[in-house]
Amino acid sequence: MSTAKKDYKKITTKSLTEMKNNGEKIAMLTAYDYTMAKIVDNAGIDIILVGDSASNVMAGHETTLPITLDQMIYHASSVVRATNRSLVVVDLPFGSYQGNSKSALDSAIRIMKESGGHSVKLEGGSEISESISRILTAGIPVMGHLGLTPQSIYKFGTFTVRAKEEEEAKKLIEDAKLLEELGCFALVLEKIPAKLAKEVAESLSIPVIGIGAGNDVDGQVLVTHDMLGMTHEFHPRFLRRYLDLYSEMTGAFETYITDVKSRDFPNKNEQY
Ligand code: KIV
Repeated sequence: MSTAKKDYKKITTKSLTEMKNNGEKIAMLTAYDYTMAKIVDNAGIDIILVGDSASNVMAGHETTLPITLDQMIYHASSVVRATNRSLVVVDLPFGSYQGNSKSALDSAIRIMKESGGHSVKLEGGSEISESISRILTAGIPVMGHLGLTPQSIYKFGTFTVRAKEEEEAKKLIEDAKLLEELGCFALVLEKIPAKLAKEVAESLSIPVIGIGAGNDVDGQVLVTHDMLGMTHEFHPRFLRRYLDLYSEMTGAFETYITDVKSRDFPNKNEQY
């Protein structure tokens, strides 16, 4: 498999299809604020996802359900201000698109207009096909999301691997085909067997980005705070930690507290 890397000045939905066709893997991470997005974008990430995981990571909720459209727009606009190269995908939050296709379109338009994001992501397959079509007819690029869809966590009951049984796997394959036919530019597959993810990625012409879906897909996504080791109470098998920032930051805060208490900080060079 080629690891060739073309030098894209700006990533578009077209660049992502080209990457898939050229066998170049797509790297995607989350960001919810200006400072993190700036670092992630400068590092050369292809897609920044303003995920509704902000509900967990930024706000401390147990699920992604409570985050509102206004809050997503706030996070997304901060990320867009920091971004030069990456394609910014913004999650439509729970309740902002399931009602009917008109409310889905209204929500997507608000995201595009008020945040400057480049595309939206919705969770689900055939049950939200009308909403996806309507958003697409307005010229808004849509990324799909199948497998473990955290907005439906109360239906699933657990965060375990999805589509292990034949019936659910069959429905996932059908939904993936449908999303491609509708015109989605890419698809996220979350926490499903690697063999199934490979089958889907090979059968679609749009890029398939995995999280807990193995290596035989077209790209990978992780939650940035998880891969940096800031959220140390969360350790699913699919998560590779690139840093242990929780420990690093705790050490820095402890040293600062000691320096302040001992009057070591600030010194003569750190004052006016
Ligand atoms: O909200 C999110 O961070 C996501 C990723 C886990 C794909 O949807």
